[in-house]
Amino acid sequence: MNPAHDQVRAIVWCEDALELLDQRQLPGALVYQRLTTAAEVAQAIGDMVVRGAPAIGITAAYGVVLAARARYAESAPNWQALIATDLAMLAAARPTAVNLFWALRRMARVIAAGCSHPAQRLLAEARAIHVEDIAANQRMGELGAALLTERGSVLTHCNTGSLATGGYGTALGVIRYGYAAGLIERVYADETRPWLQGARLTAWELVQDGIPVTLLADAAAAALMRQGEVRWAMVGADRIAANGDVANKIGTYHLAVAARYHGVRLMVVAPITTVDMSIASGADIPIEQRAAEELLTLGGQPIAAAGAQVWNPSFDVTPAALVDALVTDRGVVLAPDAVKMARLMAGTT
Ligand code: MRU
Repeated sequence: MNPAHDQVRAIVWCEDALELLDQRQLPGALVYQRLTTAAEVAQAIGDMVVRGAPAIGITAAYGVVLAARARYAESAPNWQALIATDLAMLAAARPTAVNLFWALRRMARVIAAGCSHPAQRLLAEARAIHVEDIAANQRMGELGAALLTERGSVLTHCNTGSLATGGYGTALGVIRYGYAAGLIERVYADETRPWLQGARLTAWELVQDGIPVTLLADAAAAALMRQGEVRWAMVGADRIAANGDVANKIGTYHLAVAARYHGVRLMVVAPITTVDMSIASGADIPIEQRAAEELLTLGGQPIAAAGAQVWNPSFDVTPAALVDALVTDRGVVLAPDAVKMARLMAGTT
């Protein structure tokens, strides 16, 4: 890995508090919020101070550390019972990214095991989750870049970089690795309405790293593909069902349909922690609906006709049949389906 191509850390544990880079203020200002309670952490996840499936999971894990410290101080004999409320509050912060629930389950196992210094033990677990995520991203970067058979440009959607993960990124990790290996010439980044994760965050990360980036309106993606400018569309995932269906940022499905029509291949890059084998297909993935204001206003200013109704799903589901390659830290699955997903999860790919 070229360390120059990975400069940002959005989640930092610092002197008994959690510091989150406030992604709502990027790229205008680089401001870290200092959080000291689980309630603040849950609020920060819901308000998108931190976002991106793996980053949400890591943040929640650190939130459990803050909760344990407070509950143990409140009542050392009862802290395990008291902390259940905090776990439930953190779990309710956002519904789609399964990494949140995965991380909370892992922390809950440590809580159930019990120990005399729970905050320290839980901090070690949260740190392990964080470090493992960065390692998974680096592994996926290598595996995904190995699928790039010729030098060219790629298209990406939303933000899947260091800001969305523990560091390095999922799809953006493949892009970082591919660029360092000379396999990627340019990155086309969808602006990603309505939160503009592409325009504000992906473009910012790529500019920081000196990787050439061209922004486009989401609606321009099909026209770009028609021009033959890109060979791969690369995206992350918030939850992958047992049959390989992929929930990701709204607009991914439309990108996948356009990609198949134009012969552009779709690569989904996600750690194993994003796979939810308890969900048979994408139809059962809970899709977060967000506030109407996200579409009715921009930068606090009204931009829509007063009285218009809003449909604002934050994610959509891309059927597995439209996915050419699923890159995980456990291996690559070409044309995923239920049988291949079961093999991947059993470690027999
Ligand atoms: O609403 P967001 O910004 O949390 O959505 C993020 C995405 O959809 C990402 O593509 C996904 O979490 C994968 S990030 C590694």
